[in-house]
Amino acid sequence: MKVTVVGAGNVGATCADVIAHKDFVHEVVLLDIKEGIAEGKSLDIWQTSPINLYDTRVIGSTNDYSKTANSDVVVITSGLPRKPGMSRDDLIATNAGIVRSVTENIIKYSPNTIIIVVSNPLDVMTYCAYLTAKIDSKRVFGMAGILDTARYRAFLAEALDTSPKDIQAVLMGGHGDTMVPLPRYTTVGGIPVTELIAKDKLDAIVERTKKGGGELVNLMGTSAWYAPGAAAAQMVEAIVKDQKRIFPCCALLDGQYGLKDIYLGVPVKLGKNGIEDIIELKLTEDEMKLLHDSAKAVKEVMDVLDNMSAPAAK
Ligand code: LAC
Repeated sequence: MKVTVVGAGNVGATCADVIAHKDFVHEVVLLDIKEGIAEGKSLDIWQTSPINLYDTRVIGSTNDYSKTANSDVVVITSGLPRKPGMSRDDLIATNAGIVRSVTENIIKYSPNTIIIVVSNPLDVMTYCAYLTAKIDSKRVFGMAGILDTARYRAFLAEALDTSPKDIQAVLMGGHGDTMVPLPRYTTVGGIPVTELIAKDKLDAIVERTKKGGGELVNLMGTSAWYAPGAAAAQMVEAIVKDQKRIFPCCALLDGQYGLKDIYLGVPVKLGKNGIEDIIELKLTEDEMKLLHDSAKAVKEVMDVLDNMSAPAAK
């Protein structure tokens, strides 16, 4: 099995590093446009193999897509990260051009690949990759829900002084402030979280989760990478090992939740074919309204992309 990670910035390099450490693929190719950076980071990662005891070969490439040929899974992390004061949507014009050209190159050398998008604004960049790749939407989806639920679960573990391993949660909607955490579907060792924490504390954690990415941008002056990189690697693992895991991912909807032709975070089953199922929860009226509000916010940015792409499409 071969995996390519495009973009050797913080998120891409972390993703390649986590995949290599987990030792479940033969080869990881890390590619970047900046001369030498992917080769350097790959060499550095590969030199951890005798320490961390894995066999995965880590290969770097400066923009030579022939090295990515016949990848089973490709993770796209390319694009600018956020700076303080920016929303993810502010990145659209620059990152759409980058994601489009990366996707074209990827599909040229790996027409049968599965694509996981990590670039922001996430939902719209996933849509952009889908339009460019012209492959089944089951093979083009985005990473956001695993990261957002990981933040939510980590905050809960801290508040409850419990193991994060025992916290299960699902979260839906766009990767932005309109995301929809679902406390009704959050459990701690099988116990509904609402039985373990006061409502005001839970509400505060939900609010912190929605702005979880921004909290890190403000602290570091750039966006996060350890959790985003590890989250993308977890999706790659589920696909490569055909685990059929249930994760919230950014998927193209075709009528589910009353939504169509939109990329949005929903629970899906991930296996060797990519998205093998989109799971439809029975949401309450309030939850459904939040999801539709989030869809509206994502759709507005998708429309910006459609208008930007219009002349090129003619
Ligand atoms: C975040 C970025 C990666 O949420 O979107 O940290």
